[in-house]
This record gives sequence, C-alpha cells and structure tokens, in this order.
Amino acid sequence: MVTYEKIVNCAEAIRSAVGGAEIGVVLGSGLGDYVEALEDARYIDYKDIPGFPVSTAPGHEGRWWTGKLHGKTVCMMQGRLHAYEGYDLDLITMPIRIMKLLGVETLILTNAAGGVNETFKPGTLMILTDCINFSGKNPLTGPNMDEFGPRFPDMTYAYAPELIDLCEKQAEKIGADCVRKGVYMWFNGPCYETPAEIRLARVCGADAVGMSTVPETIIANHCGMKVLGVSCITNMAAGILNQKLDHSEVVEVANRVKATFRQLLDATIEAM
Ligand code: HPA
Repeated sequence: MVTYEKIVNCAEAIRSAVGGAEIGVVLGSGLGDYVEALEDARYIDYKDIPGFPVSTAPGHEGRWWTGKLHGKTVCMMQGRLHAYEGYDLDLITMPIRIMKLLGVETLILTNAAGGVNETFKPGTLMILTDCINFSGKNPLTGPNMDEFGPRFPDMTYAYAPELIDLCEKQAEKIGADCVRKGVYMWFNGPCYETPAEIRLARVCGADAVGMSTVPETIIANHCGMKVLGVSCITNMAAGILNQKLDHSEVVEVANRVKATFRQLLDATIEAM
C-alpha cells in the first residue's frame, strides 16, 4: 500500500534531483517526445527514484523531466503507469500526488485513444469534457489520505471548464482543425475492447475509449488540481471499421500528429 511517507520520500528525491514545478504533464503512448519542448531540461529515471514504479508499456520511457516552457516550470512524465501492467491504482496514481507535493496546481493528462464518435478520425485531437470510469475500480479505495483531500470528492468539473475553453481557443488560434471535444471512457485493457463493448460505450455517451487517464483524473480532483485532458485518437475503436486493431497503428498515428499535438499544448501552456 502506498503511504503518505512514501509519497513524501519520492517527492523529496525528485525535488533534489530536478526540482519542483507549477504545471505537470503526463505523456501518453507515442507522445513522449514532447519533453523536447522543455528548456533547461533535467531528468531522473524512474528506477532511480526510491519506491517509484517502472513503466513497462512499449513507448513509455520511464523518465521524470523538469524544465521551462514559456517561463513556467513544467514537469513531464515520459512514461505512464497503467492498471493493466499489474500495479495497484494507488501506485499508478502516486505520481500525481508527488506532483501535488512538488507544487503542481495544473495537470495536463494526455493519452492515445480509440475513437467511438464516428465523426472522429485517426489524428483527431479530443479535449476531454468529462470521463466515465468503467473499470469498477477507484484509486481512492481504502483509507482516505486526509493530507490530500476529502473522503467524497466532487467530480462535477473533473476537467476544468476554463482549461477546456482555453485549449479550444488556442486550437482555433493555431488553426488546428483536427481538435474536437468529447467524453473519454476508461477500460482496463490490455486487450482492446470488443465491438459490443464499443456499442455499449457509445450508448453510455463516450466519444473515445482508452486504458488510462481516469485514475489520474480522480486523484488530481481529490487533491484540488485543475485538470486538462487531451486524447490523440489513434484509431477508430473496435468494430467501427472492418479491420483488426494493432498497437503499431496507435504509435504510428501518434507520431504523425505529434507536431500538431505539441503546438496545441505549447500554445495552451503559454496562455495559462
Ligand atoms: N482502445 C483502448 N485504448 C486505446 C485504443 C483503443 O481503441 N487506441 C489507443 N488506445
């Protein structure tokens, strides 16, 4: 079980290696190169942070970066932890609480996701307006950590309305016509969903499905951070097209749109 002391120890190890930050970014599958945007960048490998889990998913490096972006101090997780890797949810969300202790008040969560909304296409960037926890699990299960927040946190504005507006405005400003808004639904993975599950997701109001982001969103809301979520739609979800899904397609599309993705995040962080 993750204790408050363990979180404090990790935060101190990171602070002494690379310093604190005001904005935190979690980089999803295929989006790890965004760390190149940081100036005066420093990193520490996850394996050198005592007690920190190591990411095992392909395309997830396992480095904690800190640097400057438009005059703001930003930390980036190059390599996310997923429930399907076998880690408990309190461990995969520990980095968000570490960020909180390091001074982060605004969190940007990114991911690769499957498009459920049939007006989307691979390469669409979706600003999250809300999310659905379809996993049956919750990272806040267990004794409440009062140091971070209340037992029953509100989730009405899981993604901060002002950050949604800001990101949408920046998309217009940079002329990114691939940017849309929608609801993200979390499936545990690691297998992709079945076509029947995707039909269910659509009935539930989901525009995209993925295997991450929701646990981090819950923990960030619990500790009072403002959250912005952006999905890179790398494929149409199972059963929409008459073809099988493959992880290489996810990485390929994420690579194809990473320049626009980077422009969008850059402009949004600059405007924050
Ligand atoms: N389903 C779940 N996670 C994903 C997908 C998908 O279709 N694409 C990228 N991540």
